Amino acid sequence: MKKFLITAMLALPMMAMAGSIKSPNGNIELKFSVDNTGRPVYEMTYKGREVIKPSHLGLELAKDKHASKHLKETDLMDGFTIAKEETSTFDETWKPVWGETATIRNHYNELAATLNQPAAKREILIRFRVYDDGIGFRYEFPQQQELIYFLIKEERSEFAMAGDHKAWWLPGDYDTQEQETQETKLSEIRGRMKEAVNWGNSSVAVFSETGVQTSLQMKSDDGLYINIHEAACQDYATMHLELVDAQTKALSTQLGGGSNAYTPNPKPSAYPLPQPFTFVSHLTPDATGLKGAMQTPCETPWRTVMVSDDARDMLSNNLILNLNEPCKIEDTSWIHPTKYCGVWWEMIVGRGSWHYTNDFPSIKLDQIDWSSVKPNGAHKANNENVKRYIDFAAKNGLDEVLVEGWNVGWEDWANMWKRDVFDFVTPYPDFDIKMLNEYAHSKGVKILMHHETSSSSQNYERHIKEAYELMNKYGYDAVKTGYVGDIIPRGDHHYSQSMNNHYLYVIKEAAKHHIMVNSHEATRPTGLCRTWPNLVGGESARGTEYEAFGGNRPDHTCILPFTRLQGGPMDYTPGIFVTKLSEWSNNTSWARITIAGSLALYLTMYSPLQMAADLPENYEKFDDAFQFIRDVACDWDDSKYLEAEPGDYITVARKAKGTDNWFIGGKCDENGHKTTIKLDFLNKGKKYDCTIYADAKDAHYETNPQAYVITKKVVSAKDVLKLTEAPGGGFAISLIAK
Ligand code: NOJ
Ligand code: CA
Repeated sequence: MKKFLITAMLALPMMAMAGSIKSPNGNIELKFSVDNTGRPVYEMTYKGREVIKPSHLGLELAKDKHASKHLKETDLMDGFTIAKEETSTFDETWKPVWGETATIRNHYNELAATLNQPAAKREILIRFRVYDDGIGFRYEFPQQQELIYFLIKEERSEFAMAGDHKAWWLPGDYDTQEQETQETKLSEIRGRMKEAVNWGNSSVAVFSETGVQTSLQMKSDDGLYINIHEAACQDYATMHLELVDAQTKALSTQLGGGSNAYTPNPKPSAYPLPQPFTFVSHLTPDATGLKGAMQTPCETPWRTVMVSDDARDMLSNNLILNLNEPCKIEDTSWIHPTKYCGVWWEMIVGRGSWHYTNDFPSIKLDQIDWSSVKPNGAHKANNENVKRYIDFAAKNGLDEVLVEGWNVGWEDWANMWKRDVFDFVTPYPDFDIKMLNEYAHSKGVKILMHHETSSSSQNYERHIKEAYELMNKYGYDAVKTGYVGDIIPRGDHHYSQSMNNHYLYVIKEAAKHHIMVNSHEATRPTGLCRTWPNLVGGESARGTEYEAFGGNRPDHTCILPFTRLQGGPMDYTPGIFVTKLSEWSNNTSWARITIAGSLALYLTMYSPLQMAADLPENYEKFDDAFQFIRDVACDWDDSKYLEAEPGDYITVARKAKGTDNWFIGGKCDENGHKTTIKLDFLNKGKKYDCTIYADAKDAHYETNPQAYVITKKVVSAKDVLKLTEAPGGGFAISLIAK
């Protein structure tokens, strides 16, 4: 190694070139240079405080028989000189199709550095965009003779932290991010990892003892909030981060083995280790272990670092959306925010089944005469039950009804390596697709389609056109997709380049058919909903379903807006009112939330797609509280984060689209929270009918979750509200302009 460095230094006339650029208000400064071995280096400060200490950028390339004729034996790591540095300014205001605010300002200063690698006759470009609340950078690979097709062994973007920050992290995993978040110092990640990965899921692939996922939220001892994520991840693998700590001996490289196992002894990388407290990018491999197959001209996704000394800026920040391309759908009139209920919770909890019969050990789709099969009596997607939900939606102003288990194949669907698992067009005999859609439409309601793919991605692609034509025929305009279990073909991962291409293919096909997409278990979002606003929701995190599988910690929903929601809205499926599931099923799990806390989630967990997840009969028992779900909007002209602290509490006020009405939600962790809200954001000339849904004095998420108080009064912009949130609770307020 040493020898190589000396050779490189002798061979290259290293010029100490460096660029520096500030954000529009000057708070953030970004410096860029190449070091004496020709490695690109950047650093970042916020109000003069170190956010990213000098950190290297680069990519290690893989050799293979097809790529070698175009590829010199060098990585894109060192031996660079800066050929050109260009700076520019950009300022635009754009209108999202749906969102937290009516308009979004995209204002940044840019530094684009063109780098030559003379030894290999190659050129790359690193582009930095510096905003007032963070930075984004990406690698760009122009078309050129010596870099045409190339394979990525690993991307080596470093993020050197300035201290042992507190972090809210998930174990780095190629297939899932449904774990509970860990809250530790950076130096404690390694020690916590064994415990953090000791959980159950149908597809798990952990790669390192210090590997974590993005979006990663941190807080420094002196009160800086720092978040690392990515934007516009397309035709590229999802990025994780591997922390270098005092014990790190090598960074992990796993080329050649897409194993689904915990592999704490990775193959070492040839490059020197960065200093402790540095995160290094770690891409998701495909079935062969490869991390990317590229063809110039091309670029990587943006790597993002958001920063502020005010936690609320982490939530109001639009940096990730801004780094995505503008909307590519010309006519967006068919895309709409949606409130829905569904034939779903009763199956998740275990009172009914997705499948229709218990009579076959295995189902071959083309060999079953469904009309003569014996029903199991527990199938919930049946005409009568679906009509009951449609009636409930119509009565309560909900737009759609999700129906899962409507199509044949649920008898043996998960984790069988079964390729032809569903056809997405054949209903079970007790689901009359024509009649039910006509019935729904006659009441102003739509049925929301469900396509569980069982991670058999090629099977879904084979059937997608027919499946979407069926949706168009019967008037469905939204689909919930799902990717339960290990990816088929075997060995691939949920977050690989090929799977990321699959999810985007689905979104584009859906757009052609005017279909909105809500994708479960897909890769974590990176703001692609700006470009493709028919991507109205996704899961990619631990959702409400886990309240039926042992529970979510009360602070869970005070973390997700800082992490998972950075890249786009989540279909969290809130609204559980009967939290002790044994009250109506054999499930002994319970939801760790109060009813008032459940109402708050419709505000604090921003999404244009909101579910009322509990059963109609459970809502009927608490109809006065359900009034809030009937009233609350899910599209907004304005949003004001009033207070926030990761893992503790979030309070937000939102102005409903096209109205003068406001809604406020506050959610807290297991410790409870007291809040004082100045209503000075209300229209000064108006009075408002104010309804407050608060935890009762003795409410508690465990012992007394259904204790709430509803208060009504008339308020104006001069008023101040004082509220107490119970442990695991919250509040919701509607303010309707008179
Ligand atoms: C997991 C999803 O998160 C859940 O919502 C769905 O009901 C099941 N998969 C079945 O598709
Ligand atoms: Ca907490």
